[in-house]
Amino acid sequence: MMQNKHILIGITGGIAAYKICSLIRDFKKSGAEVKIICTPNALNFVTKLTLQNLSQNEVYEGEFTPQNWKPEHISLSDWADIMLIAPATANTIGKIAQGIADNLLTSVACAFSKKMIIAPAMNCNMWQNESVQKNLKTLQARGIEYLPPEEGFLACGYNGKGRLCSLKKIYNAVDEALNYSETLKGEKVVITAGGTIEEIDPVRYISNYSSGKMGLALAKSAYDMGAEVVFITTKDFEVPFKKVIVKSALEMKEAVEKEFETADYVIMAAAVADYRVKEQSEQKIKKGDEDTITLELVKNPDILADLCQKKLAPHPYPLPKGARERNCIIVGFCAESENLLENAKAKIEKKGCDFLIANDISRKDIGFNSDENEVTILDKNGNITKLEKAPKKIIARKILEWISTK
Ligand code: C5P
Repeated sequence: MMQNKHILIGITGGIAAYKICSLIRDFKKSGAEVKIICTPNALNFVTKLTLQNLSQNEVYEGEFTPQNWKPEHISLSDWADIMLIAPATANTIGKIAQGIADNLLTSVACAFSKKMIIAPAMNCNMWQNESVQKNLKTLQARGIEYLPPEEGFLACGYNGKGRLCSLKKIYNAVDEALNYSETLKGEKVVITAGGTIEEIDPVRYISNYSSGKMGLALAKSAYDMGAEVVFITTKDFEVPFKKVIVKSALEMKEAVEKEFETADYVIMAAAVADYRVKEQSEQKIKKGDEDTITLELVKNPDILADLCQKKLAPHPYPLPKGARERNCIIVGFCAESENLLENAKAKIEKKGCDFLIANDISRKDIGFNSDENEVTILDKNGNITKLEKAPKKIIARKILEWISTK
């Protein structure tokens, strides 16, 4: 739903600028109001007249022609619900990452505190340049979403990664971002992600194939929905919210429990190892003459089940500083390779959590390491809801909407 939404599009000087003309039409057709800022170089590729006609608005370029008492870069950033920069050149990406504001577009970007999406497009060698990649990470860490370019034939004659991603992807990303409801505003959401690492000795460990992508998608969606997010993860991602990197199940437990008293939601998306090595060797274990060796494993605490027990226990009195009086909603995940529903039903009962998100890891097209997922949500009252296969980002949002409104 884009009706009456204010979309501010920044166009920079890349050949893909011409493609944005169709996108403006799509946004307009959906009922959005569109305003455009061009860098001086962008106007070498598209004309002001074309953009003006398509957007039915004036096209902004210079900083020093204010229409009203407010400086242009402030009134435009106040006006917009979202800012999209497409195509985003290496140059503009670099300037925004460094806080340089030397034209109207970069000045608006510098003043902009709402949702920003950028769609880079450039030559494939430029794309791989270390500084460009570093700048993108900086932007991501600030909460700016970027839509990676695609592989293909490039206008410069090269074949490689660098062409602007499809207009459909850009349209969908903007649409989705505009429709985030701030349902989690004021709520503290603790999310775990990744497979735990249980060390055997200084160079070896036991772990699993969890990529951490589902937890990351949940954390990003919760953040977009206005939550204060604490992301406890075994994988390092660039994120704009509090991140605690842990390795083992014991470290994860400590980190989760530290946040639990003040949390409104705890979502355990991490794949926590059920067992750890009983005695970690301080030195690298040497190969001996034996054909077999035995590692003794001991059970890890069940973080999720322990939290659910804690929730049942009466609140400590007096309440610790910042602790919430009401009960935290606890969500578990369950990855099964057979009898999904049966196992999930038994698990929600055993663990005592409010919701359990079950996914079938026997399928190669979803779950572990994949960008897509298909899950079933169980609740403690026995209700079961299936979410059809979709990108993890969409699944994440639906899960959060579900658990925050039920
Ligand atoms: O028992 P199972 O490992 O299948 O349960 C999965 C759920 O329990 C996940 O939410 C996972 O994060 C959590 N878990 C945990 N502590 C463990 C094992 C799993 O919190 N030791």
